[in-house]
Amino acid sequence: MSILFRPIASSSFSTLRISSSSSASLIRNLSSHAYLPKPTKPGSVSGDSKEDDIPIEVTTTTPQNLTKEQKDLIDSIIRVDQAGELGANWIYRGQKWAMDLKGDKKTSKQVEDMWENERHHLTILSHLQNQHRTRPTLLYPLWQAMAFGLGASTGLMSKEAAMACTEAVETVIGEHYDDQLKALQPLLNPSDSSTPHPSLPLMANILKEFRDDELEHLDTAVEEGAQKAPGHSLLSAIIGVGCKAAIKVCEKV
Ligand SMILES: [Fe+2]
Ligand SMILES: [Fe+2]
Repeated sequence: MSILFRPIASSSFSTLRISSSSSASLIRNLSSHAYLPKPTKPGSVSGDSKEDDIPIEVTTTTPQNLTKEQKDLIDSIIRVDQAGELGANWIYRGQKWAMDLKGDKKTSKQVEDMWENERHHLTILSHLQNQHRTRPTLLYPLWQAMAFGLGASTGLMSKEAAMACTEAVETVIGEHYDDQLKALQPLLNPSDSSTPHPSLPLMANILKEFRDDELEHLDTAVEEGAQKAPGHSLLSAIIGVGCKAAIKVCEKV
């Protein structure tokens, strides 16, 4: 197990990250939890946690002073990420369907654990989409069908093919989250030294949190034999190109 403290750029928020191979079962105090109802802990007093320090405006308002280019950037980040998380949910749904059909309980459980993360990601992206009044992708039904088909077909091929699919998707998504974080830097550190709207550092930290989750999924896929899948290189290349094309489309549509 590793424990690391990750400060958020340009903000007073912080994230205590606890990770391990069984991280899904551990309690994690994460930036994205700012959007969830506050847990009531026995003996806790309101105001004694960092989460209680976050003003409501941070998770309910959107910056009003952005240029058109900056607003378009925020919109495209949220739209493509929401679509991507929807796709991830349906890929894992397809993989779990295939594993259950084949009676592979162990892999089904692993897929279910990763799917649980994706459900959380999609919930938070939907909060962000509402908060920043971003139009969701118009291609929701198409992504659902294609993602389920991808998960189910690779799952039916073999466990290793399913893991190769996860490896390829998470590689592209991890890099994509990194690219978005770089693109957000001018908004987080304005050249006139003004303070960015507090929703922006929180959003950046959520992107980091989700990137790290996706990289954990990638690690799991490799540990579970992704690279032993027949035709691994070809499968990875096709899925990677498909993901990149889907990202390009969702940035606009
Ligand atoms: Fe995700
Ligand atoms: Fe993932």
